[in-house]
Amino acid sequence: MSLTPSPAVAEKVTPQTLLAHKRAGTAFTALTAYDYPTARLADDAGIDLLLVGDSLAMAVLGHADTLSVTVAEMIHHAKAVRRGTQRALLVVDMPFGSYHVSIEDTLRNAIRIVKESGAEAVKLEGGTTQTANIRALTAAQIPVVAHIGLTPQSLHAMGGYKVQGRTQAAALQLADDALALQAAGAIAIVLEGIPRELAAHITSLVTIPTIGIGAGPDTDAQVLVVHDLLQLTFTPPAKFVRPFADAGTLIREALANYRTAVSARTFPADAESYHAPSLNLQTEHLTTR
Ligand code: KIV
Repeated sequence: MSLTPSPAVAEKVTPQTLLAHKRAGTAFTALTAYDYPTARLADDAGIDLLLVGDSLAMAVLGHADTLSVTVAEMIHHAKAVRRGTQRALLVVDMPFGSYHVSIEDTLRNAIRIVKESGAEAVKLEGGTTQTANIRALTAAQIPVVAHIGLTPQSLHAMGGYKVQGRTQAAALQLADDALALQAAGAIAIVLEGIPRELAAHITSLVTIPTIGIGAGPDTDAQVLVVHDLLQLTFTPPAKFVRPFADAGTLIREALANYRTAVSARTFPADAESYHAPSLNLQTEHLTTR
């Protein structure tokens, strides 16, 4: 049996690839995906890390926050993303409640996510409180991406979606969290909604990659919710979102054009219809004979 990887596999993004980016000082790109077509487009575009985020709840399922999404729903969408992803590292969020009960329960849920969806890593939110979970998952050979700062699953505890780490004490706590998460075995840390100065400091403090969202330009990588990037949202975007395209307007126009064409009977045209010229439809119908 040959152990030489095929060219496609050699290009596959792994946790080691992300680490190599950190060491080389080259930025990598992460993006959320929740379905097959988005995954294929993102993978073809060379996005390095695809995250089936629990933002699924808001971006796709229409919930007000991320709290209600279940392990089964995450797996359902992650399977579709898996089918569309060849090169990118596939990371799946552990939803709220799936890693808060006990280490045993965390392991059971993470193993289920990996086995059923094909995830290559899981992500969970929290700082020093999560180090025992991360140690256990890492010991079970499941790579873990950590997530600190504005952690949406802590919505109620934070009193809303508020930028974190603005006071000296809070900033030092987040820096300590980052070091603890690294020591516990995290392969990368998402830094969300923190001042850019703090994100830059944490990025220089740790030897694992940081992935920023609303954390300024000095992290090792950036991540965005794909629906924000494409303007497929129904609320004003956060300050940190740059809309790279207006798919919302494009879709609205396409749907209005479709409706107009159907109403005007200009769709479908003859060229969009099937033909069977040899049919003799002048004969009486079978049932009336
Ligand atoms: O769920 C999510 O989409 C996320 C990020 C954007 C980091 O956690």
